[in-house]
Amino acid sequence: MELYVDTANIEHIRYAATLGCITGVTTNPSLLAKEDPSIDVRQRILEIHELIGGHLSVEVISTVTKGMLKEAEEIISWFPQATIKIPIIPDGLSAVKELSKRGIPTNVTLIFTPTQALAANNAGATYVSIFMGRLDDISQNSSDVLNDICEIWDVQECESKIIAASIRHPLHIIEAAKAGADIATIPYKVLMQSLKNPLTDSGLEQFLSDYDKMQTERQKILNI
Ligand code: G3P
Repeated sequence: MELYVDTANIEHIRYAATLGCITGVTTNPSLLAKEDPSIDVRQRILEIHELIGGHLSVEVISTVTKGMLKEAEEIISWFPQATIKIPIIPDGLSAVKELSKRGIPTNVTLIFTPTQALAANNAGATYVSIFMGRLDDISQNSSDVLNDICEIWDVQECESKIIAASIRHPLHIIEAAKAGADIATIPYKVLMQSLKNPLTDSGLEQFLSDYDKMQTERQKILNI
């Protein structure tokens, strides 16, 4: 399962890019709105693209097909490898169909059910984003929904890649990987949490202190 970082924060992306385990970035209007309001969106997207190099999803704002297609063209003019993120609404599906005909990759977002995922796949979505945390927020088991979608994908041989999104904690990453999601897109804070373990920290401390002790002993023995 690939790991993307779900943020528009340039410092977080800069650091995540050094980790060697991140292959893409997903953004959305809320993530961009969390950043300095004076930033130029095009400029920020291009900065992110330069840093990460791999997948970059950029979301449209329009809710009508024509507007979505116009925005997609604009984003593609910024950098041709962009993946256009489109909400799972009827107009969005039409836009996905058209962009798919043109060979432009799409990421259909705000998916909460297997039927929405299937419709997006059939419209030609390159990626489908299943929002785990927001399902759990309304007491629907996100793991069950993701498992259902992955099972349908296997049975029906669907082609869209499954992105587990709205990840709120490291357990969501494990559930997504076990279900068979292709990608988990992870907020920076959760990404860092998922790398940490107190046993790693104490283990490393012990290794270093034992090595130091050994060096001190060695110097004593060799009189150096
Ligand atoms: O990738 C979708 C994500 O940005 C939404 O996350 O935590 O706002 O539900 P959240």
